[in-house]
Amino acid sequence: MEQINEYIAANKERFINELIELLKIPSISADTAFSEDVLETAKLVKKYLEDAGCDNAEICETKGYPVVFGEKIIDSNLPTILVYGHYDVQPPDPLELWTSPPFEPVIKETEIHPDGAIFARGACDDKGQMFMHVKAMEFMVKNNQLPCNVKFMIEGEEEVGSDSLAEFLESNKEKFTNDIILISDTGMIANDVPSITTGLRGLSYVEVEVTGPNRDLHSGIYGGAVPNPINVLNKMIASLHDENNHITIPGFYDKVEKVSDAERAEMAKAPFNLDNYKKALDIDDVQGEKGFTTSERYSIRPTLDVNGIWGGYTGEGAKTVIASKAYAKISMRLVPNQDPDEITELFAKHFKSIAPKSVKVKVTPHHGGLPYVTKTDSIGYKAAAKAYETTFGKTPVPERTGGSIPIVALFEQVLGSKTILMGFGLDSDAIHSPNEHFGVWNYLKGIETIPYFYKYFTELESNK
Ligand code: BES
Ligand code: MN
Ligand code: MN
Repeated sequence: MEQINEYIAANKERFINELIELLKIPSISADTAFSEDVLETAKLVKKYLEDAGCDNAEICETKGYPVVFGEKIIDSNLPTILVYGHYDVQPPDPLELWTSPPFEPVIKETEIHPDGAIFARGACDDKGQMFMHVKAMEFMVKNNQLPCNVKFMIEGEEEVGSDSLAEFLESNKEKFTNDIILISDTGMIANDVPSITTGLRGLSYVEVEVTGPNRDLHSGIYGGAVPNPINVLNKMIASLHDENNHITIPGFYDKVEKVSDAERAEMAKAPFNLDNYKKALDIDDVQGEKGFTTSERYSIRPTLDVNGIWGGYTGEGAKTVIASKAYAKISMRLVPNQDPDEITELFAKHFKSIAPKSVKVKVTPHHGGLPYVTKTDSIGYKAAAKAYETTFGKTPVPERTGGSIPIVALFEQVLGSKTILMGFGLDSDAIHSPNEHFGVWNYLKGIETIPYFYKYFTELESNK
């Protein structure tokens, strides 16, 4: 396996340039104006899988955007690793905040990435991280180092909730049988503090509409005498948290997994510096649920956040108006034992119940997803930990993250498979934000580390 470093040194420029080609295509799954680009990206991913040595690479139709499949089966008696990733990206707006255009990748140095980082939408989430697996596969195939079978499932709808994937998975169970699923679509604590993600939060996402009068009104003639849906909506939203930042929806916490003091103490060992955290975000104080630390608030506790709110006049100057309608998009991050459908229902019931008689309320559910946690005593986890030890020289820290990858819980339900989350991005890489980037060092470190996971997983599996 020593050749991996030589191979990376010799092919580094090409690895970067190939990723740049992938990043140039605006595969924005949320916006149908880009559907051709999403499809073109799938084709390029397929080509890259073939180039890397997949025997069968295929674009599989789903009821939405296609899944790109690839595999190399060397011996059916050996374990099979299924690599999952996504080739779709988030919309890049607000465009004016990017220092270089989101789909014209450039390498720039940053304080955290002195070796340079690739700036582009999708650089870290998830084209760059997904592509590490393709390049690791190329190394293993070209150098006769592939120790087991491998399958790829690279989807195009992750950023919009993987809507078509459940059905696709159900009807293609055979195709995706595996011994472990490997995903790089999360982060790690720092370049000198490798970590393995052991938990993802679930998600319930709703849109609300509050209607007051049947038309927009003159705010002088009617103001003070009629319900203003924007005022009402804000009051309703404000009431969803109490003074301790607890969520007030009845039943919301009923099923929340209680993490033991021992587990919390174990988690608290993961390095976290509150001052640096605040400094990086330019906030003078943090805010969150009473009784929990900052890292607990974003990992083991459920949340409710407004993601967008609109209504009325937002153009230039002042228009005196009472809007007929006000809207908000609200997400709830969920933790083990909370069920997204149940939570959506509790939310809808409560939200309607707190509305004054003067307005009408509509709640529309969007996508949801179940949370996921894994243990650190599995073969998969041990193999991953050993891989990091080999290439980082440090034992990785297990860490539950606040983000969601709903398909991970589904993999367990439908395929009975466990997932190992080996993320190489950093929180400061600005995923979903303007100026998303992925450190060149992180990209290459990922390519270097992945083949060791294959090696150790195969060894541990055959010795069990
Ligand atoms: N890769 C992210 C999830 C993520 C990022 C997890 C960093 C942990 C650390 C994924 O692409 C994502 O953005 N997921 C969405 C949910 C999805 C249903 C749109 C999310 O977490 O908001
Ligand atoms: Mn992602
Ligand atoms: Mn994402």
